Amino acid sequence: MEHVTVTKTYRFSAGHRLAIKGLTDEENFRIFDTCSNPRGHGHDYYLEVKAAGEIDPVSGVAVPESTLDEAVLPVIDDLDYKRLDVEVPYFSDNQPTGENIAEYLWKRLGDGLGKSLVHIRLSETATSYFEFYEEETYPYER
Ligand code: NI
Repeated sequence: MEHVTVTKTYRFSAGHRLAIKGLTDEENFRIFDTCSNPRGHGHDYYLEVKAAGEIDPVSGVAVPESTLDEAVLPVIDDLDYKRLDVEVPYFSDNQPTGENIAEYLWKRLGDGLGKSLVHIRLSETATSYFEFYEEETYPYER
């Protein structure tokens, strides 16, 4: 079956400190570099959400923008302007690394978008991003 994908980019800002409890600041710096700064710091995250669908012959739309917004905005809202490791319970047990934030977003967005969610990309800095997708739906079915 052929699919078209629709991608929309969202932005949120959040703070974190990456550190393994019990390690010294020096040891944490070796693992997490500047993201281990004991006083924390922030990033402007860009989240690309890609959903697949079939084009509706009447509207010409495969995935309405409102469908994406309704699924994504409440999830983003839970993270925006938060200190992730302090204020978001999920990240008190899981380091708020780009990888773990992307996995968290992938799971939560999947709850709202179901199988139409095919790919997310979370950019943490201008030079690093993290991706999540299901192997069996990527590349897209033909
Ligand atoms: Ni950081």
